[in-house]
Amino acid sequence: MALSTTGKFGSGASTFAKRTSEGTGLPGGRTGGLMTDFAKESKFSSSLSLRKTPKISDEEFAQLSKFIYERTGISIPDKRKYLLENRLGSRLKELGLNSFKEYYDYLRMDRNKTLEMDKLCERVTTNETSFYRDIRQLGIFQNDILKEFIKEQEAAGKKELFIWSAGCSSGEEPYTLAIMISEVLGMSVIGWNIRISANDLSPAMLAKAKEGLYTDYALRTTPKGIIAKYFDQEGENYRIKPRIKKMITFGPINLSDGMALKRVPKSHIVFCRNVIIYFDDPMKQGVIQAFYDNLVPGGYLFLGHSESIHKLSSAFKPVLKPGGMCYRKEG
Ligand SMILES: C[S@@+](CC[C@H](N)C(=O)[O-])C[C@H]1O[C@@H](n2cnc3c(N)ncnc32)[C@H](O)[C@@H]1O
Repeated sequence: MALSTTGKFGSGASTFAKRTSEGTGLPGGRTGGLMTDFAKESKFSSSLSLRKTPKISDEEFAQLSKFIYERTGISIPDKRKYLLENRLGSRLKELGLNSFKEYYDYLRMDRNKTLEMDKLCERVTTNETSFYRDIRQLGIFQNDILKEFIKEQEAAGKKELFIWSAGCSSGEEPYTLAIMISEVLGMSVIGWNIRISANDLSPAMLAKAKEGLYTDYALRTTPKGIIAKYFDQEGENYRIKPRIKKMITFGPINLSDGMALKRVPKSHIVFCRNVIIYFDDPMKQGVIQAFYDNLVPGGYLFLGHSESIHKLSSAFKPVLKPGGMCYRKEG
């Protein structure tokens, strides 16, 4: 789903603050960059065009996209109207509804509206993820940032590492980070206090993450030796080992809920990859500021390779490495 940064429904940075107490237990979707999603969507639309689904009017689109923006920060520009129509059309059919206006009323009035909101978010967001996704950037994390951080901690007589994986989808990202930490620390991991807080909007994705059972597709870019060392095979699937699982705490957080973001424990490193591409500029600014406030001085922020904070914040210092980059909060 290609959602862009129009800011149409935002009204400056205050939009972020206004949303602070909106629902926290909402759901979510896949990623992979705009072009990938465009390609997927065109195939999807052509198959759907064979079925009869209600058309969305301009007014219905304005209502629904505003509703989604206010609750998730996800911005759907007018030119992507057909995406909303395609992705929600089958849901209307399942519910026996005849128009998007009826669906909007259902979302606002129905007793099960929290559940329906989860379903709505699952359809409009993208959950795509995998273990060892963007290996070059993860190499920077494992070989540069993490090794250096461990040396600094040990020199200061500390053994603490707190990471926040924001928008963790079905868990592949935080589990990958935990595996990398184990690889770097080896047996000495036992003496460390390691905590990875992993959050997402989607209860369905979080349930999958907590289950920790994956197909080989999720592991398609994971080195074979890592699979053998950190997973137990169950039939055709792979279950993450308990010693990795216990490093991570999964829980729901809506990144548009400023108050909830303030409650996340302080971190040395924040990962928020392939999430903010769906937000408009005011929402991005609010989220980046929340990461800044959450990080300890000298902490690091990793975004997706197509995401930049260049025009959004000058608070972070870019850290450029061969193959990728991250950002540092100056200490
Ligand atoms: C494409 S996945 C990225 C997963 C992982 N970070 C990665 O790069 O592989 C994007 C995730 O962001 C989540 N998301 C979207 N909007 C969100 C919001 N407002 N709050 C929290 N999570 C959100 C979606 O539910 C989805 O699981």
